[in-house]
This record gives sequence, structure tokens and C-alpha cells, in this order.
Amino acid sequence: MFFNKKNKQEIDMLRLPKHIGIIMDGNGRWARKRGLPRSAGHSAGADALKKIVIEANNLGVKYITVYAFSTENWKRPKEEVDYLMNLLLDYLRNAERTLSGENVVIRAIGSRKELSREICEQIIKTEEFTKNNTGIVMNIALNYGGREEIVNAAKAICDKVRNGKVKIDDIDDKAFSKYLYTADQPDIDLLIRTSGEQRLSNFMLWQVSYGELWFTDKLWPDFKPADLRRAIIDFQNRGRRFGGI
Ligand code: IPE
Ligand code: IPE
Ligand code: MG
Repeated sequence: MFFNKKNKQEIDMLRLPKHIGIIMDGNGRWARKRGLPRSAGHSAGADALKKIVIEANNLGVKYITVYAFSTENWKRPKEEVDYLMNLLLDYLRNAERTLSGENVVIRAIGSRKELSREICEQIIKTEEFTKNNTGIVMNIALNYGGREEIVNAAKAICDKVRNGKVKIDDIDDKAFSKYLYTADQPDIDLLIRTSGEQRLSNFMLWQVSYGELWFTDKLWPDFKPADLRRAIIDFQNRGRRFGGI
């Protein structure tokens, strides 16, 4: 059904990754190659994202988490940060029309503290608007940092221990994960990073623990639905042992 020309292989619909993570990297380099400002790369990246989410949803993937803005991205020039924030605001606004129509559930994960009131209000609106959809759950990691997520979870648990609501001996891997942004979601099975960089950059440190890592030199705006299918086929050809034999 989903035939991949390059690999001459089909996706096994019964063994889809449940949760795909994507580090959408290379927008700036994509723009530079074309003599355009970095902002043009971000804008092209947002268009690429729409197509990828729709493809993942059509395939039957249940969760997708995309890295849109890291807690470290504030280090960029103010002009670029402002552009990205506006783009995200637009993306969330338009998603009510484009992605919600595709049955996508949209959530934002990450710290809201540093975000503008306008974005926070739009997040609440878009989440509310899409919450009863039944398709793929899309987590947009916005002002997200993996370490911050884990530290916040530890703090929340400490608070419960202090108030006598949780016993220290009851804290295990499963209990801990309930305090993460992805509380009710499966771990990441397949992590894709574009642009040739091979690092996590503080993305989903807990959830990617046993995820399969897949890298491509393609820059994010050039990443097409066919590339997603190729990544899924590669994923299905790997032996996942989870420490067993
Ligand atoms: C990824 O593209 C998008 C964000 C980090 C927001 P980059 O902006 O990092 O593009 P490069 O890595 O500079 O090419
Ligand atoms: C990771 O990309 C963050 C996002 C894709 C949002 P970066 O471009 O910020 O990561 P580094 O700096 O190359 O590690
Ligand atoms: Mg980058």
C-alpha cells in the first residue's frame, strides 16, 4: 500500500512506530544556500511540517513530537527569536483550519513562563479546539528542554513527598514518567534528525531512552513525506532488543 520506490519495500502497517520524534534542523542553512534570510528557511520549515504531520497521521502513527524551539534557542538574535515566535503563533492559529480538519490533536509542551501572553492564549485556544479530534497527537515542543522537564518532574514529586501524598519507595520509572509533559503517552520509538547533525540538543532525554535514532543530511525544509516513509522502513528493519538477546 505505502510503496517506497527507493527501498522497494512497503511499510508494515502492523509495526508502525507509535511515537515519532523529530528534531527539525537546518532551516538556516537551507535559506543561506539560496541567498535568503534565515527567516525564509523557518517559513519553509513550517510548510514542510504540515505535510509531514498529515503523512504520519494518514499512515496511522499515533504520536508525533516536533522540536520547534528549545530552551537554548533564546540565545539567537532577538530578530530571529521574534520571527520564530510569530511564525509559531501563526502556525497554531492556522492549525485550527489546516490540521484540525485532518483530525490532528495539537498540544504544546515546554515551559510557558517565558512565552508571550498572546502565544500562551493561542496555545490554550488551539489545544481546546483540537482536543476532541481522534487522529494523531502532535506535541509541539516550544520552549522545551529535556533537562528542565526532568528537573520539574523531580520538583513536583518532592513536593508530593513533602505533603505526604507520595512515598519515596513508590517512585519508580513508571511513576516518574507521569510527571513529564508526555505523561500519558508512549516513549519515542523513532527519533529523526535532519541536517546531518547527530546529537539530541536536549530533546526528549527521558522518552528517547530506547528510541531508534535516524539521521539524514537533508535540511528540514527539504524533508518530504517520502523521507518519513523511508525512515519508518529503516526503523522496521532494525532489531530492537531492549537489553534482551
Ligand atoms: C531549526 O533550524 C529550527 C530551529 C532551531 C528553530 P535552524 O535554525 O537551527 O537551522 P540551522 O541549523 O542554523 O541551519
Ligand atoms: C535544535 O536545533 C532545536 C530545534 C530544532 C528547535 P538547534 O539548531 O538549536 O541545535 P544545535 O544548536 O545545533 O545543537
Ligand atoms: Mg540548527
